[in-house]
Amino acid sequence: MNIRRTNLFFLAIFLVWFSISLQGQKRDLDFRVDSLLRLMTLEEKVGQMTQYNGFWEVTGPVPVGGDARKKYDHLKNGLVGSMLNVTGVEEVRKMQEMVVKETRLGIPLIFGLDVIHGHRTVFPIPLAEAASWDLDAIEKSARIGATEASARGINWTFGPMVDISRDARWGRVMEGAGEDPYLGAKIAAARVKGFQGNDLSAPNTIAACAKHFAGYGFAEAGRDYNTVDVGTSTIYNAILPPFKAAAEAGVRTFMNSFNVLNGIPATGNAFLQREILKGKWGFTGFVVSDWGSAWEMMDHGFARDLKHAAELAANAGSDMDMESSGYVNHLKALVEEGKVTMGVVDDAVRRILRVKFELGLIDDPYRYCDENREKTLVGSAEHHAAALEVAKKSIVLLKNEGGLLPLSKSQKKIGLIGVLASEKNSPLGSWRFGSIDSSAVSVLEGMQKISKDIAYAQGPSLVTGIVDFEQELKINETDRTGMKEAIVLAKKSDVVVLVLGEHGFQSGEGRSRAKLDLPGLQQELLEAVYKVNKNIVLVLMNGRPLTIPWAASRVPAIVEAWHLGSESGNAIAQTLFGEHNPSGKLPMSFPKSVGQLPLYYNHYPTGRPWPKPEVFWSHYTDESNDPLYPFGLG
Ligand code: NOJ
Repeated sequence: MNIRRTNLFFLAIFLVWFSISLQGQKRDLDFRVDSLLRLMTLEEKVGQMTQYNGFWEVTGPVPVGGDARKKYDHLKNGLVGSMLNVTGVEEVRKMQEMVVKETRLGIPLIFGLDVIHGHRTVFPIPLAEAASWDLDAIEKSARIGATEASARGINWTFGPMVDISRDARWGRVMEGAGEDPYLGAKIAAARVKGFQGNDLSAPNTIAACAKHFAGYGFAEAGRDYNTVDVGTSTIYNAILPPFKAAAEAGVRTFMNSFNVLNGIPATGNAFLQREILKGKWGFTGFVVSDWGSAWEMMDHGFARDLKHAAELAANAGSDMDMESSGYVNHLKALVEEGKVTMGVVDDAVRRILRVKFELGLIDDPYRYCDENREKTLVGSAEHHAAALEVAKKSIVLLKNEGGLLPLSKSQKKIGLIGVLASEKNSPLGSWRFGSIDSSAVSVLEGMQKISKDIAYAQGPSLVTGIVDFEQELKINETDRTGMKEAIVLAKKSDVVVLVLGEHGFQSGEGRSRAKLDLPGLQQELLEAVYKVNKNIVLVLMNGRPLTIPWAASRVPAIVEAWHLGSESGNAIAQTLFGEHNPSGKLPMSFPKSVGQLPLYYNHYPTGRPWPKPEVFWSHYTDESNDPLYPFGLG
């Protein structure tokens, strides 16, 4: 036998041994899952299929009545399999202890949370990270998010969101990877790898969740939760590829979506969940509903009542019910009446238990509860350094005429203008559970670290009244306080850095916009500054593509800086002063006007694509027909 043959021989032996050992592990796991399943009553099985939101401070007094009391009783009686939004080792441990010690079988809870772009250390919004086109950086961002969240007792994230969208009106474009399914698929896989690592049972890895299955990003007119009605080509070529990539990367859970897809709500959609996901793709993890999406099938006019909704959801392959209480209240009766088979319930519970085993929770329910890890890892300097690197990579230089950038450190009169320039809250975006409010480095702080000579004028405020994740944001349209000071500063500056865009709570869930221009009085401020000083570097801070044709055709330098997370101001300042060379590329087209939406580069050609002197070709008579105008993908 020569050396090559010997090597091949050993390789073959290794492969046979490896596949036998994998099969053995799988058999072991299946055996353990089935053994546990056999011990369970129907109520306990339904319990595993139920997920509740955190409702009282576990370390505080026990609730006395109402919904919270009911949930508490369900927990104690083994009727809950998962909690969301319970964080911190102390809280998680107390709740886990109660379930493990007091329920008959002591099956641990799985704790879920939206870890979307970091946790305590906030990374750039996912759309910004996609602009880096750097898969290693994106994987690392997810890895650190998982490290911090797992150190706070979390073992499951509701991410990555892999919805493709072509409509910047939809507020949730900030959570995705933009309009391209190929890039979206690559990023989906990178994030899954980042969250789950190579060993799901390690205490610093968490189960990922590909969401929202499916079509949610195609909400009509970009209005969140709206109907989705698309053809098979769009389903297979645009919507499904990132989900398929996530499944192939081994994602352990999927979340279905709020929307109706071609007449059928995704939560009750057997074509998506049974035929495609669990059938064609052979997915072995479980599907969680979106928040109350089973319940919402009544609002869609699809289910008669909650019991009917539970029946439709379970039969369609929705394994765990997030916050509808449909399963916990009705599934047992539905099985007894023969409307849902025991096989459907067993399949769902098997999937949920399998993931709990894989996470190591059944062997050690407190695996993710280590105060020492919580103290040392969460928000560490190392994580901030990584967030800064990713933030810098996410910045896109849209325009730089006349060499206005980079700014020189010795340049005397730099005028920094705009309320967003001193914002420490907005850069954190709207998915920021686990972070500390107003903890981002502002642009002002970042620039002052590099140059002593930064004069700042805030200009008019962007929002008025309460700023809160759950409240509608009020944009200031009338109060011009600060306008004058801003213009005075612009007049006496050599160069003006103008930071404009959206508040962090203007994009995200429920935050669709009909207009995509600079909100409030910002366009007025821009034009007033331009009148007295044309040397403007416009820094955009936003969660979606904006319509900025006025700026695009006049302002010499434009930098797309998104909502970049904890290290936002440092990343922007280092880029403006040339310590970092911006290399990001847009993952989503910027329309010139809203009327062009949906807008995407990879559209089918029309039969009349080319500019013609006469009128009969595919165009707008009042707008550019070029999807890459003013700023397009890449
Ligand atoms: C609703 C959102 O659509 C989903 O993305 C999120 O994971 C859940 N709420 C839980 O917070």
